[in-house]
Amino acid sequence: MRTRLYVSTLICFELALFFASSIQKHTTRICHRIMPTSWMKPSSMRAVQYSGYSGGAAGLKYVDIPVPSPKKDEVLIKVEAASINPADWKIQKGMLRPFIPKFPFIPVTNVAGEIVEVGSAVQELKVGDKVVSKLVFWKAGGLAEYVAASESITVARPAGVSAADAAGLPIAGLTALQALKAIGTKFDATCSGSNILITAASGGIGTYAVQLAKLGNHNVTATCGARNLEVVMNIGADEVLDYKTPEGAALSNSSGKKYDYIVNTTTDGKWSAFKPALNFPGRVVDIATNFWNFVASILTFFSKKKLSIVIESMGNEDLRFLLELVKEGKLKTVVDSRHPFDRAADAWEKSMSGHATGKVIVEM
Ligand SMILES: NC(=O)c1ccc[n+]([C@@H]2O[C@H](COP(=O)([O-])OP(=O)(O)OC[C@H]3O[C@@H](n4cnc5c(N)ncnc54)[C@H](OP(=O)(O)O)[C@@H]3O)[C@@H](O)[C@H]2O)c1
Ligand SMILES: *[C@@H]1O[C@H](CO)[C@@H](O)[C@H](O)[C@H]1NC(C)=O
Ligand SMILES: *[C@@H]1O[C@H](CO)[C@@H](O)[C@H](O)[C@H]1NC(C)=O
Ligand SMILES: *[C@@H]1O[C@H](CO)[C@@H](O)[C@H](O)[C@H]1NC(C)=O
Repeated sequence: MRTRLYVSTLICFELALFFASSIQKHTTRICHRIMPTSWMKPSSMRAVQYSGYSGGAAGLKYVDIPVPSPKKDEVLIKVEAASINPADWKIQKGMLRPFIPKFPFIPVTNVAGEIVEVGSAVQELKVGDKVVSKLVFWKAGGLAEYVAASESITVARPAGVSAADAAGLPIAGLTALQALKAIGTKFDATCSGSNILITAASGGIGTYAVQLAKLGNHNVTATCGARNLEVVMNIGADEVLDYKTPEGAALSNSSGKKYDYIVNTTTDGKWSAFKPALNFPGRVVDIATNFWNFVASILTFFSKKKLSIVIESMGNEDLRFLLELVKEGKLKTVVDSRHPFDRAADAWEKSMSGHATGKVIVEM
């Protein structure tokens, strides 16, 4: 199930997923199942949807629609919390047009909640389980009171891990974890560790990446804005640079420290700036793919200073691993803000601002 694509074009990736979704649509049969008597399924639910590209937060509308019925391999989740990821509003902006999304569209893919109904072919999960799910991005549906999710993308949430903390994990936590695994990080204290730089350490991905890098024994330099220096220190960074200062722009202070790896989670940051900050050999791991990164990943393939791309993918084992770390208190979700379901537009706006510190959470 887990495919990590170090070098790939985003387009190939999206197309493959799109075809997979079409095949799935034609092969899954809807399966109605007798409800457990303890739970009366409401006939309708509230959901937030948008009906066109580029509407931003103002394009989100509340609707009353039927509660979905889980297909045979799906569970129906009563959503307790959801987290907003940049991908959610980038899709609204038309990042994957013209195929995705199909309007009207209920956005948001990272949800935590409780199972209230299961399809006939569901193997392990059962009614009453607390879970976290990473919904497929072309269907999403998380900004609603209920959502149906395939069992294959849903993981049980250990007792003691709150819905909000769990909902933050899927995209941001898996991206951080998979980027660190791509540079050979082990999380069992046997890893000798490297000097690594994490850019945008205050973001959703960055806040998980700093903590995970420390669990992997790395020496972590982090960049973030002045207002977040303390937050990033507190989650374990060894050194923090304000990205708006000359040192931050140079990615190193007067010591001239260089890095074995740079995990780039910013929305900018140029190869020309990163290259001088790399050790020889050294590598930039890029998690936000664009065309130029893809070209750079090919051009630097045989070079000692490389750029490689990691595209996050759902991995139940990885997600369980992250949940276990949260349960043990070794990893925390840094929460930027919590918004009631009635004010989902505020959450949307906050994520779109690009200035969240950690995860933006909506609570149902
Ligand atoms: N490849 C994949 O599979 C994958 C998966 C998930 C996400 N992504 C992409 O990765 C990017 C980051 O996602 P995210 O969820 O972490 O975003 P986010 O939470 O919205 O990141 C916001 C944070 O980034 C900081 N920041 C912005 N520019 C910075 C810079 N130049 N230097 C240092 N800090 C900077 C901001 O600090 P200030 O407010 O102080 O500016 C803010 O705290 C997005 O573009 C997203 O689409 C890719
Ligand atoms: C990390 O590196 C910095 C400077 O390179 C050094 O001062 C610091 O002691 C290191 N921290 C650890 C935990 O190795
Ligand atoms: C600057 O570099 C020195 C030596 O690596 C390190 O000890 C110090 O913590 C760094 N300062 C900042 C603000 O990063
Ligand atoms: C860092 O990531 C951003 C966002 O995708 C990208 O625009 C930039 O080119 C990346 N920098 C490098 C050196 O890969």
